Amino acid sequence: MKSVLNNAGQHWNHTLFWQALSPRSGKIPGVLEKKIIADFDSVAASKESFKAAALGQFGSSWAWLVLSGNGKLAVTATANGSNPLATGEGTAILGLDVWEHSYYLDFRNRRADYVSNFLHLLANYDFGEEQLTKA
Ligand SMILES: [Fe+2]
Repeated sequence: MKSVLNNAGQHWNHTLFWQALSPRSGKIPGVLEKKIIADFDSVAASKESFKAAALGQFGSSWAWLVLSGNGKLAVTATANGSNPLATGEGTAILGLDVWEHSYYLDFRNRRADYVSNFLHLLANYDFGEEQLTKA
């Protein structure tokens, strides 16, 4: 049963992840930016929190920006094929694959650089805002 959950989770996680990437990343759209500032104090603080979650989870994992049940944005990380839907931590706004296969070819063991690259150059914040506004 656990293998079914992990494989289904990985399918769900990657489906969201592909949409969370964009060649036109950069500026965070207004609704999402306002919510990030309200809940993290600043965009920089939210990115540092996300990065800490991505780096703090040992082994194969995922990092998430979620809308928690209390209505606030938060960051979390899940192991293997799990996700915030499975753990009940909230609605996924953005997710980042931090399995080694996702970054080793380009970044070797520099997971921190991979996460920074995502946050500053690849994250699809327009998609994130869509997830936020329909949650
Ligand atoms: Fe992956």
